[in-house]
Amino acid sequence: SKPITVPELFEARRAGRKLAMLTCYDAGFARVFDANGADIILVGDTLGMVVQGHPSTLPVLVEDIEYHTRNVARGLSRALLLADLPFQADATPERALDAAARLLRAGAAMVKLEGAGRHKLDAIRFLVDREIPVTAHLGLTPQSVLRFGGYKVQGREEAAAKQLRADALAVAEAGASLLVLECVPAALAAEITRASPIPTVGIGAGPQCDGQVLVLHDFLGLDTGVRRPRFVKDFLAENGSVAGAVRAYVAAVRDGSFPGPEHSYT
Ligand code: KIV
Ligand code: NA
Repeated sequence: SKPITVPELFEARRAGRKLAMLTCYDAGFARVFDANGADIILVGDTLGMVVQGHPSTLPVLVEDIEYHTRNVARGLSRALLLADLPFQADATPERALDAAARLLRAGAAMVKLEGAGRHKLDAIRFLVDREIPVTAHLGLTPQSVLRFGGYKVQGREEAAAKQLRADALAVAEAGASLLVLECVPAALAAEITRASPIPTVGIGAGPQCDGQVLVLHDFLGLDTGVRRPRFVKDFLAENGSVAGAVRAYVAAVRDGSFPGPEHSYT
């Protein structure tokens, strides 16, 4: 089937069809995810934790994302392939452009970057002006772990919620086409989604986002020793096979039954 395009993400939102996204790092899983209905595949810099075994995403290099993107791309025929700009690959617009071009050459259709600080907005504009679609990522941005002092829910105080609402509008204004919200109270994520001109995809952000994303290892219930967020669900346990788990996840995202209240923050 034809690959899903960036404009189709907006069409899905208009039609009220939720987007099911999973992270993936190799061709074997990519093939199964693609064949069983995942809309977006993310080569996330979580690979630093779940594949490389580091305690954070900070050690990940552009060449690591590039290598995994190349492998994942060979397994896809329908899903949209999104690749992360790793730590400091977006420190300047020029560096972001170099990194993004490498990832597009490796097979990505879109790149993702974290945050909405001034130079991040500059990088988004710079890429979009040069025909590179961008996904923004707000809330718990793992590349900010040293400043945050750990992996914590974001936007709980009113000042932080206000900042997050403003940042969500700013990344869309800068030209982002999709917004990942990570570890944000469900009500705030719902409010941001209603106000957002671009589709949102949540992880630990409640059921009202326009889509959901899970990390491969969490989705399969693997204990990697480095990450075990409370909001994840092991879809393999109830479904018996990876293909069945993907079908169940896609169905649960589409009908709004995942995430449930037990996977959300208040
Ligand atoms: O790197 C990653 O897997 C991500 C998701 C958690 C959204 O950025
Ligand atoms: Na990431």
